[in-house]
Amino acid sequence: MRALAPNLPPCPSALAPMQDVTDHAFMRLISQKGAPDFFMTEYFRVYAGSRPEAHILECIERNETGRPIIAQLLGHDIENLVATIRALETRPIAGIDLNLGCPAPKVYRKNVGGGLLSDLGRIKEILTALRENYTGHLSIKTRVGFENADDFERLLDIVEASGIDMFTLHARSVRALYRGAVDYEKIARAATRLTNIRVVANGDITSAAKAAWVRAHTNCTGVMIGRSALRNPWIFRQIRELSEGSRVFEPTLADVHAYVHEIWEQLSNARHPESVRLGRVKKFLNFVGQSIDAHGNFLKAMRTTKNARELFDVCEAHLGGANAPLPFATEPFAGVIARPNCE
Ligand SMILES: Cc1cc2nc3c(=O)[nH]c(=O)nc-3n(C[C@H](O)[C@H](O)[C@H](O)COP(=O)(O)O)c2cc1C
Repeated sequence: MRALAPNLPPCPSALAPMQDVTDHAFMRLISQKGAPDFFMTEYFRVYAGSRPEAHILECIERNETGRPIIAQLLGHDIENLVATIRALETRPIAGIDLNLGCPAPKVYRKNVGGGLLSDLGRIKEILTALRENYTGHLSIKTRVGFENADDFERLLDIVEASGIDMFTLHARSVRALYRGAVDYEKIARAATRLTNIRVVANGDITSAAKAAWVRAHTNCTGVMIGRSALRNPWIFRQIRELSEGSRVFEPTLADVHAYVHEIWEQLSNARHPESVRLGRVKKFLNFVGQSIDAHGNFLKAMRTTKNARELFDVCEAHLGGANAPLPFATEPFAGVIARPNCE
């Protein structure tokens, strides 16, 4: 197995790639709260004549996280994929990942991302070719199948024979999108089968305690966290503290208040109109609000705000003053639903 990076802990944590979210600024911000052990970029779109997108390259070239970053690709044409790897491998990447899970119809209908799970033979051809052409750390991030998990064992056969180094499984089907239970038994099955490949568990890992449960239950060799890292940017620090047996940081609403200001200052572009900045910040607060109050009052009030002053007034009312020392809930409150504008 090719090393992703020296000195990774036995079960590393990673920030999941999220398009239009996990950009350079977010990676830097989350690193300041306690970095995951590695990062993966959102996907570079690969097609005839494509060039790696500049805003994604920025994560790699201006990496201020102190952690390795894997470059993710989305495509199906072997020649174009190899050309993109050639363009990326001269830069400071820790590896190449192929996206085989994106469930957006506009993506899977082009037989890329999750669409490739309908054609396992094609996946085999692509992985064989990528392995022949790239000697660095090679991985895929995928789901249990397209419609369902009926072909999961065949997928594992292909992965096992492919010689890739890491297999990240968001244990839902493509059709399930982000809904329904995550099938952690499939992650456990992959960990049992793929003894020479690092198996990274993904899907609804909402807290350090859940990460510990997933590790113990599945015997995975890594955990990857997406939406819960937007809600709770301290989650990677908490995972590390829990696994080391040290005191686990418990953020208060005052810490969350400061995080909201950091989102505004660092994750929204000051050159953009206020309405655009507001939309950007609300995208994050949709998740943050899941752990602020059990009735979703912050979320309701936050969603109605029309400018920055109204937004910060809502934050002051819910996160400031007498509320500030209250704990930020470790898990999302049941029934408080994020409505992000994601795939
Ligand atoms: C807004 C958004 C954008 C995403 N973009 C990508 C992407 O570019 N590449 C990818 O492999 N997965 C992408 N995903 C899927 C996540 O990486 C992850 O697999 C999924 O959110 C499940 O993990 P979670 O429950 O920890 O969020 C995206 C998810 C969201 C919510």
